[in-house]
Amino acid sequence: MDTIALGMPTYKERRIPTRSGQQYFIRTFGCQMNEHDTERIAGLLESDGMEPAGSADAADLIILNTCTIRENADQKLYGYLGSLRALKSERPLRIAVGGCMAQKDREVIQDRAGWVDVVFGTHNTHRVLDLLDHADEWGPITEIWEETTSTEAMPSALPTHRETPHSAWVTITIGCNNSCTFCIVPYVRGAEISRRPSDIIREVRNLVAEGVREVTLLGQNVNSYGRDLDLNGRKPLFADLLRQVGQVEGLRRIRFTSPHPKDIRADVAAAMAETPEVCEQLHFPLQSGSDSVLRRMHRGYTGERFLARLEMVRSHMPDLTVSTDIIVGFPGETEADFQDTLDVVAAARFDSAYMFQYSPRPGTPAAEYDDQLSKEVVQERFDRLAALQDQISLEKNEALLGSTLELMSEGPSRKDASRLAGRTRGGKVVHCEASVPPGEELFATITSAAPHHLMGVPAS
Ligand code: SAH
Ligand code: SF4
Ligand code: F3S
Repeated sequence: MDTIALGMPTYKERRIPTRSGQQYFIRTFGCQMNEHDTERIAGLLESDGMEPAGSADAADLIILNTCTIRENADQKLYGYLGSLRALKSERPLRIAVGGCMAQKDREVIQDRAGWVDVVFGTHNTHRVLDLLDHADEWGPITEIWEETTSTEAMPSALPTHRETPHSAWVTITIGCNNSCTFCIVPYVRGAEISRRPSDIIREVRNLVAEGVREVTLLGQNVNSYGRDLDLNGRKPLFADLLRQVGQVEGLRRIRFTSPHPKDIRADVAAAMAETPEVCEQLHFPLQSGSDSVLRRMHRGYTGERFLARLEMVRSHMPDLTVSTDIIVGFPGETEADFQDTLDVVAAARFDSAYMFQYSPRPGTPAAEYDDQLSKEVVQERFDRLAALQDQISLEKNEALLGSTLELMSEGPSRKDASRLAGRTRGGKVVHCEASVPPGEELFATITSAAPHHLMGVPAS
């Protein structure tokens, strides 16, 4: 049963907008979860009469939605907060800091940036208007909930302001029950909670009615979706959910992120293959190719197992576009361990990779390991990995030359308005001389390939 915290003021009780005409500006750091939370925060502010400001300079309220996944995210935030202090000394301005770093470092923000009016966490985003009211009447406030206590606090249960009318994120789980030793996410996002399939399907239907053609299902480990639910003695599986979402009339494309390599099974690959709307795209985070590093990371698979799982999905979806995340320089990583990573990367032939230098996060087990590597060693390995992956990305894109692919238009390309930017079902961006409204499909023949983008012409 859901727990609803009684007596807690919520956006639903708000009847009359109190901030009409004021402007807000939100700067988002971090991943899709945060970007989706930002859309919800924007939706709440707009339900209170506010409008988006073109820039921070014009705003009456600035919200920073923070990330703390790596150390440089923290440093960026304090730099930005410093510049806002000067802005606040010139004119009336409210400043609020939310998100993962606020959840983790509430006191530090208060101590280092006393000019911040509101500090809120990842579990009480839906309370932002009430907290702003409090700041107006009583002064600065910090409110962090240790966990999500009601499904109302789930990001997708709130009103939304979406940047892209044709494409939307849909949260299926929040939090994470894994314990990867490098990762701060379980500490700042809490234990995993799944939304009920009926809530998810209702949201997808509503989105489609608003003109959405593509959804991306979001969760830290989508394969574990439903394990915490009990629907009359049954647990819904991610594979079931994919099939159900595929049945929503009018929806053209379904993506999801991320599946965990230790948990993906043939039922998910079969559901992907048998649901035409599910795109041929997989984000499959490797982290390392060394068995000993993977063990110390608590990832639950070996390099060989990872490749076997990838092969299993590819056998169901032969045209799969695959991306990954890799951490270079995990404590104790030897040259031989790193070589194993290069070998798995060469064998997996990812289309693209997000590569990170290991960053110790206070409070996580790996931050305590005493065999941390020097910056120079990590940088040198990172450069070698990036060069290998760039070569593979280029070869994968070159293999598409001359082929005709379905694109969904994202509107005019930002660099050259005479072209449109379109996305393939695999998620690759193609620039193409055509004019097609966002969300509409076209076919393009690929004429040139670079590691990170493609060019094409409309197919006749
Ligand atoms: N739930 C996702 C990952 C979310 S975090 C998954 O399991 O795949 C996104 C990525 O940030 C991770 O995949 C990892 O590659 C990277 N990352 C997380 N913690 C990190 C750290 N301490 N240092 C460097 N990179 C990190
Ligand atoms: Fe972090 Fe691991 Fe959970 Fe991903 S699965 S969010 S890397 S703990
Ligand atoms: Fe995402 Fe950063 Fe939080 S990666 S979950 S916004 S710590």
